[in-house]
Amino acid sequence: MRVVVEEEEEEYPSTPGKVKVERSAAMSRQLHRCFASTGTLFLWALFLVATTATYLSFRSFVDTSSSRYFPASWGGLHWERQIRASASPRRPPGSAEGAGLSVLVTGAAGFVGAHCSLALRKRGDGVVGIDNFNSYYDPSLKKARRALLGSHGVFVVEGDINDGRLLTKLFDVVPFTHVLHLAAQAGVRYAMENPASYVHSNIAGLVSLLEACKDADPQPAIVWASSSSVYGLNDRVPFSESHPTDQPASLYAATKKAGEEITHTYNHIYGLSVTGLRFFTVYGPWGRPDMAYFSFTRNILQGKPITVYRGRDHVDLARDFTYVDDIVRGCLASLDTAGRSTGTGGKKRGPAPYRIFNLGNTSPVTVPTLVAILERYLRVNAMKHVVEMPGNGDVPFTHANISLAREQLGYKPATSLEMGLKKFVRWYLSYYGYNRGTHEFNDHYL
Ligand SMILES: NC(=O)c1ccc[n+]([C@@H]2O[C@H](COP(=O)([O-])OP(=O)(O)OC[C@H]3O[C@@H](n4cnc5c(N)ncnc54)[C@H](O)[C@@H]3O)[C@@H](O)[C@H]2O)c1
Repeated sequence: MRVVVEEEEEEYPSTPGKVKVERSAAMSRQLHRCFASTGTLFLWALFLVATTATYLSFRSFVDTSSSRYFPASWGGLHWERQIRASASPRRPPGSAEGAGLSVLVTGAAGFVGAHCSLALRKRGDGVVGIDNFNSYYDPSLKKARRALLGSHGVFVVEGDINDGRLLTKLFDVVPFTHVLHLAAQAGVRYAMENPASYVHSNIAGLVSLLEACKDADPQPAIVWASSSSVYGLNDRVPFSESHPTDQPASLYAATKKAGEEITHTYNHIYGLSVTGLRFFTVYGPWGRPDMAYFSFTRNILQGKPITVYRGRDHVDLARDFTYVDDIVRGCLASLDTAGRSTGTGGKKRGPAPYRIFNLGNTSPVTVPTLVAILERYLRVNAMKHVVEMPGNGDVPFTHANISLAREQLGYKPATSLEMGLKKFVRWYLSYYGYNRGTHEFNDHYL
């Protein structure tokens, strides 16, 4: 102890001995004064806590993208074991169907994500999901989908795609062959209420994911959900991939269009294999409560009126409603045909595929026809409140040309709106307990 004190004191130009004594006496007097009472000690502690809190809140204000601000509900040996088990394909290499894929599915607790994850698992591929379980719509539905996936051996990590540290960890633990990117802030009208959520998930989140993919070794091939909304004000029908998409009608559409440009950049610079899928109004069991067919069903059953929008000059709105199983087949065919990414160590080694496909049903149906089908299955007449469509970003009609997907993916939608809504209504009645008085998870309908 003495030696240490003397070494420290060497720094001061002092007469050996004399000053040392005076300094140490003065210091001990000061220390005594400072810490003499517990009250002073308490004040010091308070000061330290306040300084730390101010520093942290300042850092989170200037840098919200840093992973340390995401809850660390992941990590550890047990967690890694769960990830590896979930990611392992159950089709052995050399089997008739080919080697299994190992797929990271973002937005896995979402509507399309849950269906795709389950379909991949059922055919023997490895799947790990990631979802932030945000409350854009009832998170209990997302948790129910996660429970269903869990019962089939699919593990869903609770995390945000903006958490770069989490993504890096996932790629460290598993050499994913593919990423099926479905996480997004969906919905057209909500963009007027919460525009930042679209930038967070559809722009910043996308870039964060692409950064992790380009750094991963091996780089995965990416299949991701764009949207039919990129056609915006385009009025040439049916919508074809070669049509211009430079007039988006909503912020949602603009972020999806930006996503197509951003993924192109990563394909061009880093050699990531990219397939963008423009989904057309997907519906079905385990669907999204914010979508019209879902909220119509809820309101009709509860005896509440439904608002049916109509275009200018009393023209009915029409949508190319696409049943979720058809979309799932399109997603899986895209994964199976995606060429490899060519980069390593963040450097491109050669050109990689960049593809865009429409996935629709190519037979638009008007909204009043949709309501009539629901009324028939629910055996209740809806109270319709027909109003002119407000200028909130919705477009009057969508209609997909699916020749390209048919030719290159073998995509062939097989479910009519009549049949698809029947399956949806059956699921809805069962899930919300109209049949049995209880909520049950039942994958019979999936
Ligand atoms: N359903 C449709 O009709 C339709 C049409 C066109 C495009 N799409 C696109 O298809 C994809 C899937 O749509 P869906 O209908 O299943 O929507 P969904 O909202 O049910 O699923 C998206 C999931 O992503 C999660 N998520 C959102 N932001 C996230 C983030 N930052 N980090 C982690 N998870 C996040 C949500 O919690 C949600 O569970 C989306 O990209 C959507 O834009 C859907």
